[in-house]
Order: sequence, then structure tokens, then C-alpha cells
Amino acid sequence: MANSNTTIDQVLQAVDIVDVIGDVLELQKKGKNFVGLCPFHADSNPSMTVSPEKQIFKCFSCGAGGNALKFVQDFEQIPFASALRKLAQRAGIEVQIQANPHADSFKTNSIVSQYYQFVLHNTKEGEAVVAYLNNRGLREDTIKQFGLGYAPSQQRLLQAVQKQQATALDLVKVGLLHDESNNELFRQRLMIPIDDSDGRIVGFSGRVLQGQEAKYINSPDSPIFHKSRVLYNLSRAKLAAKQAKRLFVVEGYMDVFRMVQSGVAECVAVMGTAFTKEHAALLAHYQVAVYFLFDGDTAGKTAALKSAYNANKLDAYVTLLPAGVDPDDYLSTHSIEAFEAIVAQSSSAAEFVYQQLLEPTNFDSSASIDAFKRGVIGYLRDQSPALQERYFHKLAANLNVSVESLLREIKAPSRRRNEPVVSITPVKYIKAERLLLNVMRTSKEQAYVIDQQMDNWIRAEHESLKELILQYYQTYSTYQAERFLPTVPEALQEEALLIFQEPSYLSKSQIADLFDTIEEYQLKSRLKYLQELRKTASATEKMALANEEFQIQQQLKRGGHDE
Ligand code: GTP
Ligand code: MN
Repeated sequence: MANSNTTIDQVLQAVDIVDVIGDVLELQKKGKNFVGLCPFHADSNPSMTVSPEKQIFKCFSCGAGGNALKFVQDFEQIPFASALRKLAQRAGIEVQIQANPHADSFKTNSIVSQYYQFVLHNTKEGEAVVAYLNNRGLREDTIKQFGLGYAPSQQRLLQAVQKQQATALDLVKVGLLHDESNNELFRQRLMIPIDDSDGRIVGFSGRVLQGQEAKYINSPDSPIFHKSRVLYNLSRAKLAAKQAKRLFVVEGYMDVFRMVQSGVAECVAVMGTAFTKEHAALLAHYQVAVYFLFDGDTAGKTAALKSAYNANKLDAYVTLLPAGVDPDDYLSTHSIEAFEAIVAQSSSAAEFVYQQLLEPTNFDSSASIDAFKRGVIGYLRDQSPALQERYFHKLAANLNVSVESLLREIKAPSRRRNEPVVSITPVKYIKAERLLLNVMRTSKEQAYVIDQQMDNWIRAEHESLKELILQYYQTYSTYQAERFLPTVPEALQEEALLIFQEPSYLSKSQIADLFDTIEEYQLKSRLKYLQELRKTASATEKMALANEEFQIQQQLKRGGHDE
């Protein structure tokens, strides 16, 4: 944060994107431009173009694109601040770069993940786990692809990460070391690193291999890890989903592994929670069909109902497997053709919700009838008029009432939707994000610069809108409302209207103020998180955490943020 636009401009002007990319990839001159094999997908004939004139790269096949900073960030999989530092160094420019206060956590998680992988592949204990995985049908390349690891019985995590310059405090901060005795959170567990949609490791899930403990435990929620927002495997599935025009949502990690291994790469999992409205917002911009693929038992149906309800304005479907069979089980015993045949039998989310609510209704009980009616109306309230009408006719026929009376009920003011994550965030931060999005859509340059500055969007809807804007600028170089607005899917329209109606010109200093506001939010959420950690930390860590809290408070004061 708070890397002024001038600094970024300076660095970008001082480097040539052709040199930057030419250092790591073979480029050939073609007319005004250069072309090369795109490193962001499996490319066989050069589909990436580099423009010296515009100083951008673009892949016409997978859609990757951006300026030199974006390339370094994506190619080396490093955060924005590190990429900026790298390019600045190359250009001989000295810059003071403030990193995202959460950047260290990504780094710690990544070091830890390397360690767990090492243990899995190079120890006796790990050998048994690999055997277990192979026995379940997981291939070696799948295990590598998902970065699976093993947390051994002997607690050596600290020792191992210290070689990589990480400290006990770093581990405490990502929730991997806890309590007075400094015990590791994960012991004797198969380790699954969880990354966000940009591929940064935000936490872990660990599966027990023997014993009576909980089957899975997860890293604690933190400013970079919100279990209700993460969709496991999205970083890898997103490209496949765009190509296949569909995305499966399953319940378990094991399901994801099996699906991907069976050739269905467009697959993500929720993390032991239901599919939330935040998940829905995050997926909205992909504009693909979303299939909830669950076990057909009662628990699976209940989860599917909740998910379909929250999927709201997505093009969503429910696919139920036989009772007691999850996708992993199914695909381990059936062919992909049999699987696709079941997928072809999916119901639309609306149809599924309707049937699930209808089934248990007792038409002799007015309370039961009422619950059915309220359920359907509640679901339809956010739906398109066409869908509303279709189901009102069904409902009217089932209840033997008039369509008009139902229409009156749906028009009655609804209770506010409760979105707790949003409501506890002070409105000024949400507003700052909205303004930044509004600036982003006005110009390609601003879009790239702001994208690079914004490491985490507070609202899932905003993250989705950001993606839409970047997508737009992969095709067009100037903003035109008539072209852009039609790309906004229904699920995001309400928020988009709020944002893009406002005039969009902001001066550089106004934009810098917005970044400061976002930085303030990040520092404050960091502060709150550290305070929470301190409650359970050991004495030494308590002091270190208090010290860091003090520094953040100073930083907040310096920035003129009231504390
Ligand atoms: P296998 O039993 O190895 O096939 O794993 P699975 O992923 O199929 O497990 P299961 O169907 O029991 O659970 C589905 C998902 O729910 C898991 O992938 C987890 O995300 C979550 N889950 C299951 N058990 C627990 C638990 O004890 N704690 C937590 N936090 N999550 C769990
Ligand atoms: Mn399973």
C-alpha cells in the first residue's frame, strides 16, 4: 500500500517490458510487436504478444495480460510490492516500498508448505502417507500439483522454517504455533495448502490419518483467510471453468483431487461450510454455469438446498449422486461417461429449491403450507421477473390461490438481507473501494495500477467487479459504458449501479487518499487479529506481539488515522 502512483509510473517508465519478458522467455519480433509462448497456460504456438509501444503483454488464448509489473508478479508468483521492488532495482531506482501488512503471512505459509511437502516426500513417516494416498487412487502428479504435504509427529516446524529466516513469531501469526507450550497446530496430518484465487497460500487444512480426533482441522481465520469466502482450488480451476463454461462446487478436498484427476479440472470445494453469498459474489464475474455436486443423502440435499438458496442470481444447478456416495467415491468406481450422464440430469437451482420445499409440506397443516410459501417467496424475491412468474404459477396452482395475491406478497418490503461480514466493516472503507473501482473503469492504466495496489478487496462483490474491469481492458483500450455495462452479470448489477453512477474523475492526491484509507483498514484489521492472537500466545510471543501492535498503532498515528 501507499506506493504512490508516481513511484509506480517512474518504475514502469524506466524499464522496457520487452527486456523484462525477454529475460525469461524467448520472444520473436513480429511487425511492431513481439510474440512468444505464453507461460500462463499450456501454449504450443506463440499466443502471447508483447507491445513495446503500449508496454503491455497479452495472451490471446488464456487472456493473461498487463504491464511489466503484472508480468513479474504473475510469472514469479510474488506479491505486488516484491515485483515493484524487483523492477525498481533493475532500473536503478530507489524506492521506499510499504508492503501489504499481511504479506509476511503469505510468505510464512509458503515456507511451511515447502516443509510439509518435503516431509511427505522424503521421510519414512511420509512414505506411509504417500502409500495411503496412492492406495486411494491419487497419482504422484496430483499429489505434487496440489502441493500436498505431511505434518509429522515430531514437532520440527520451527527448526525447519528458521533455515528460511522465518521465526516462531511468524508461525504464531499464521496460527500454526499456538498456546503456552508452543505446540504445533497440525501433527500427524495430511496437509492441504489452501490458496486464494491468486494462488497465494492463505491457510492449511489437515486431515487426520488415524485416531479419534476431528477428521479435518483448519488454520484459524485471519485477515487473509476467511473460510466462508475461500473456494478451494479456484486458482487452478478458474481458467478451466471459463473454457468449459461450467464450474462444479463439491464438499470435500478429496472430491476435488479425484475430479481433477479424472479430467474435470473445473472444480472447487467449500471449506466445511455451506456455499455462502460471498462465494456467489466471487463467482459472479465468471459467468459460467455453477453445479452443486453433492452426495444424494439427506445431509447432501440439505447442503444443496442452502447452496442453491445462496447461489441466488448465478446460473446454478444441483447434481445429486446416489445416497451415500460423494464425487470421490463415484468417480473411483464409475466412468467419466456415467458421471456426465448424471450431470446431464441436474435440476436448475430454482427447480431444486422448489421441490425440496414442496416435498415435506403437509397440506393439512396451515403452518406447513405457510412455511412452504414463505420459503419459495424468499427465494424468488431476488430472482428475475421471468423466473418469478414461472414459479408463481406453479405455487399458485399448488396452493390453490391466485397469482396476484402472491405478487402482492413478494412486493411487500423484505427484511434486510443479513450479511454480517459486510455490516461490521465501517462504511468508509467500503466507500473507498467503490471509488477505486470507479476510477479503475475509467482508464486501462488506472485499472492496472489500482489492481496492483489492492491486495485484498474487502467485499467479494468488489473483487468480482475488479475482475470484470480487467477483463474489459483485455479487449478494449478505452472505456465505453455501452460496452462495459452489459458485461456486468445480474448478481453484481445492484452494486455496479451504485458505483458507476457517480462521476469518476479523481485527482492523483485523491486517489492516494483512498489508498491510505484502505491501508488504514488493513492495519486496523491486522491490529485486531494480533490482539486476538495475543490472548493465547506464550509469554515471549505475547511481548513480541505487543511490540508489533505498538508499531502498527504508531503507523496509524503517522498516517493521521484516528485510533
Ligand atoms: P474423505 O473421508 O477422506 O473422503 O474426505 P472427505 O473430504 O470426503 O470428507 P467428508 O466427506 O467427511 O467431508 C467433506 C468436507 O467437509 C471435508 O473436505 C472438509 O472440508 C469438511 N469436514 C469434514 N470433517 C470435518 C471436520 O471434522 N472439521 C472440519 N472443520 N471440517 C470437516
Ligand atoms: Mn470422501
